[in-house]
Amino acid sequence: MIIAIDGPAAAGKGTLALRLAAHYGLNHLDTGLLYRAIGRKMADAGLDLDDPEAAGRVARELDPADLGHGDLRGREAGELASRVAVHPPVRSALVDFQRSFAARAPGAVLDGRDIGTAICPDADVKIFVTASAEVRARRRTDELAAKGRSVSYERILAEIRERDERDSVRASAPLRKADDAALLDTSDLGIDEAFAAAVAIVDAKRG
Ligand code: DC
Repeated sequence: MIIAIDGPAAAGKGTLALRLAAHYGLNHLDTGLLYRAIGRKMADAGLDLDDPEAAGRVARELDPADLGHGDLRGREAGELASRVAVHPPVRSALVDFQRSFAARAPGAVLDGRDIGTAICPDADVKIFVTASAEVRARRRTDELAAKGRSVSYERILAEIRERDERDSVRASAPLRKADDAALLDTSDLGIDEAFAAAVAIVDAKRG
């Protein structure tokens, strides 16, 4: 079974994907981490993030060990990732890795932006997870505050809007709900409710 989870930044895809993978005994791939590692590597090497050729080279040389490096989950790496993710050579370099991960037994949950539309168009289940930009910004701000980092809600909201825009308007595999994906809006749901709704979607699909 392959489950594709797509949606905008900070919608709760990662948490849902992890919990679904544990629940159904599937492998899990956070595909955003691939783009984050490429952005990080380019920035560390002083390369131009807007150069599609250089970005493609780094993507083709990406080593799984790079995924364990440093602070890839933070806001800065997210921003770098979104910038390198617009380049077609980057996206094409990552296709085979993601598809072979998905094909491996017993199946997998992949979360990202283009899993249901481009990477695994034949996934058994597709869920598009979203929430209003305001709710996502509020959650992110609270998460950071819980870690003792105070960043203004307004600033996080602006970052989220900017990332939504870049991820959605790019020409190559933009963020878009697949026609056959179920829409899961978590704006008014807690994480347990969102997880229960996702399980209901998966179970309904499997019949
Ligand atoms: O899911 P995330 O926030 O870790 O993703 C970081 C960036 O990587 C996101 O803003 C756009 C890019 N990305 C992508 O283009 N395609 C994916 N499948 C996953 C992430």
